[in-house]
Amino acid sequence: TVYDSAVLASKYTANKIADLILQKQKEGNRAILGLATGNTPKMVYQELIRLHKYEGLSFSNVVSFNLDEYYPISVNDEQSYTYFMNNNLFNHVDITQENIHIPHTDCSSNQISEYCLDYENKIKSYGGLDLQLLGIGRNGHIGFNEPGSKFDSITRLIDLHPLTREDAIENFGDLDNVPYQAITMGINTIVQAKKILLLALGERKSEIIKKALNGTIATDVPSSILQSLPQVEYILDREAAAMI
Ligand code: GLP
Repeated sequence: TVYDSAVLASKYTANKIADLILQKQKEGNRAILGLATGNTPKMVYQELIRLHKYEGLSFSNVVSFNLDEYYPISVNDEQSYTYFMNNNLFNHVDITQENIHIPHTDCSSNQISEYCLDYENKIKSYGGLDLQLLGIGRNGHIGFNEPGSKFDSITRLIDLHPLTREDAIENFGDLDNVPYQAITMGINTIVQAKKILLLALGERKSEIIKKALNGTIATDVPSSILQSLPQVEYILDREAAAMI
């Protein structure tokens, strides 16, 4: 779905999420949402906050699982995805604190695999994700599933690609401050979601969008796997769609 502007693409995405929340509310069910960070979903979250404040959209039935988090990082760190989510969405809506799940990386390194498996099982215990919101990295990553990630991968600790660390300088100020690792949902975790919305905005995403949508399905472009799935919708602005 291609929109003329980033604002329109973001509003459309927010409305899709709001529709799911409302539909689940009507059914008396919870909406299990997989959420993303980065610049791309910021306007989606702003629109969801607006719908909450002015249109009565309630998040009381929402259970959220975030895709990923840097490792190591403190939850109080302004660069942490916990801080990002609180600041950009959770502090402004009526979601219940205990329904929020973000990979916390305050466990020691020998506990990480157990922690990751718990995160994976927790998603399963809710019956899986009803909807996963995705951005895309310039190297084609989804979550922090860097090139080479196996399509059957699950939540795990991963080494960040140099381009990903470079792109993170914007938030960390200096390359030396950017963590070398992250915890991420796996590709298999993501593709199990019943609905997947991949949002890409701006000219700097046009080249990778071309590879991800029109290129070969292969692990060197992790997002290429989405081509094979019926439940995926790519939501793009004109600039991101320029090369397809
Ligand atoms: C980070 C996140 C991804 C996100 C990507 C793109 O690497 N882990 O989930 O999709 O950045 O970020 P942006 O939206 O800022 O371009």
